[in-house]
Amino acid sequence: MDERLDFIVRLAREAGMLAQTLRATPGGLQVGAKAPGDFVTAADLAVERLIRDRIAARWPTDAVLGEEGGLQGDSGAIWITDPIDGTANFMRGAADWGVSIALAQAGRLTHGVIYLPDHGLLVAAGPTGLVAEGAAAGVSGISDATAALVHLGYSPREAPAAHPARIGRILSAGAQYRRSGAATVGLMAVILGRAEVYHESCLHLWDCAAALVIVPAAGGQVQSAPLADHLVAPCEVLAHSGHLPDLVAAVCGLARP
Ligand code: IPD
Repeated sequence: MDERLDFIVRLAREAGMLAQTLRATPGGLQVGAKAPGDFVTAADLAVERLIRDRIAARWPTDAVLGEEGGLQGDSGAIWITDPIDGTANFMRGAADWGVSIALAQAGRLTHGVIYLPDHGLLVAAGPTGLVAEGAAAGVSGISDATAALVHLGYSPREAPAAHPARIGRILSAGAQYRRSGAATVGLMAVILGRAEVYHESCLHLWDCAAALVIVPAAGGQVQSAPLADHLVAPCEVLAHSGHLPDLVAAVCGLARP
């Protein structure tokens, strides 16, 4: 395993363990809101601090973009992390949350790890290959939309009426949909072949950077904005198995000839 892949796998495990420990500690989860419905807990802040400290100790000149602290540093190597994705689930004791850490070098995402501690699932990818713990990684081979599952993400950044319209198109195509409330969980479902599509119309890079590396390594396909644009603004993100083009077009609201 290459040095940086080994590093992010160990770091994701340590970060997940810290989040679980803080959740179990009385007073460990003071909750605040960044915006209505957009929560941050003491654990989000502590886990991002841990991730930043570990990166600074090992690669002091690298930059870090984190959900809570923004972009710090100026380098061609940028670590991108959501310390706790799915905070609203995490703070209520639900299992659907995850740690996401990725690395971009010279304008290209090269490494990524998603760890879902309460599910015991970890998948990471880098130039030397794929690491999977808890289940085998590999996208679904299903090519019949009526057997397919689409995971959706939603945030108030999307016009509320657009979301039920998307669900309607999925159901009209004969497929089923899910929304877990954590992009890492939906994206992990595609990586493990437990769903065929993940879509979110306006997703921050820190929620999906790791998956943008891992999904192709697991045999799937991804679409998002160019990295330079996605570093500064959320964008539409699609990850899928590659075997259901008509369903993908329906999810995205694109007519196919
Ligand atoms: C959110 C979750 C949610 C997605 C939002 C994200 P957070 O991340 O991943 O599923 O739909 O776009 O912001 O705020 O819980 O880290």
